[in-house]
Parts: sequence; C-alpha cells; structure tokens
Amino acid sequence: MTTATIFVCISCRRSSGDDEESSDQPGRGLVETIGARLRGDGRGGVAVTGVECLAVCTRPCTIALSGANKWTYLIGDLDPDRQVDEIVAAARSFAASENGIVPWHERPASFRKGVIARVPPLDHKELL
Ligand code: FES
Repeated sequence: MTTATIFVCISCRRSSGDDEESSDQPGRGLVETIGARLRGDGRGGVAVTGVECLAVCTRPCTIALSGANKWTYLIGDLDPDRQVDEIVAAARSFAASENGIVPWHERPASFRKGVIARVPPLDHKELL
C-alpha cells in the first residue's frame, strides 16, 4: 500500500555547459533512478512520479513528499547523482511516520538544508 509519493519535477533545467543554451532536465533521470531503487529494494510504502513545475524552478532538483493525512514537504537543491539514497531513505521515513513529520535528527542533511516549505494536511487542526 502506498502511503507516500515522491513527486519529482521533471521540468527544471540545470546548466550543463558554459553557454546559456546548454542545459538538461535532471528530474527526468531522477524519477527513473528512484523508481529502479524502489523496485529493487522494496517500495516501503513509497511511490514516485514525475510532475511538471513545482514552482521552485531555480532550485533543481526539486521534489515534494506527500501522503494522505501527512504534512507535505517541498525540498530543493537535491543532487540527482549523489543523493538518491538520501531521498529514498527520507521518503521511507516519511511514509512510516504518523503525520509526515520526521524528527530533525533523522532527516538527511540535504533535506535539512533544502526544505522550502511544508504544508499541513487538509484536515489539520492547529492547537491554539
Ligand atoms: S520547472 Fe521545476 S520547479 Fe519549476
């Protein structure tokens, strides 16, 4: 059963050369790499899908972690070549959590640095 989805922006462009014309879209490969990792190691309740712009276009790679009744996290500045293990591990911790909030000390450094926003679940009631 899927309890968390990693949404990866596949539209972000990253400079890949000296001239402004050279760029790639690293999110496309990241979706494939994460998908292969999940198929190989067991999904752990996690799915991955590519999406168009997450509105943080200057901070590729950008992902959102989302799940029913969980806080949604938007995270940027992820390295698609070196941080796949961290992304998958964080998504599994997110999936296993009750409300999507993973304790700070359990989050990989890339997530601590790259968090752009967190958004409460639809039925969230703040304690005032
Ligand atoms: S194009 Fe990726 S966040 Fe906008």
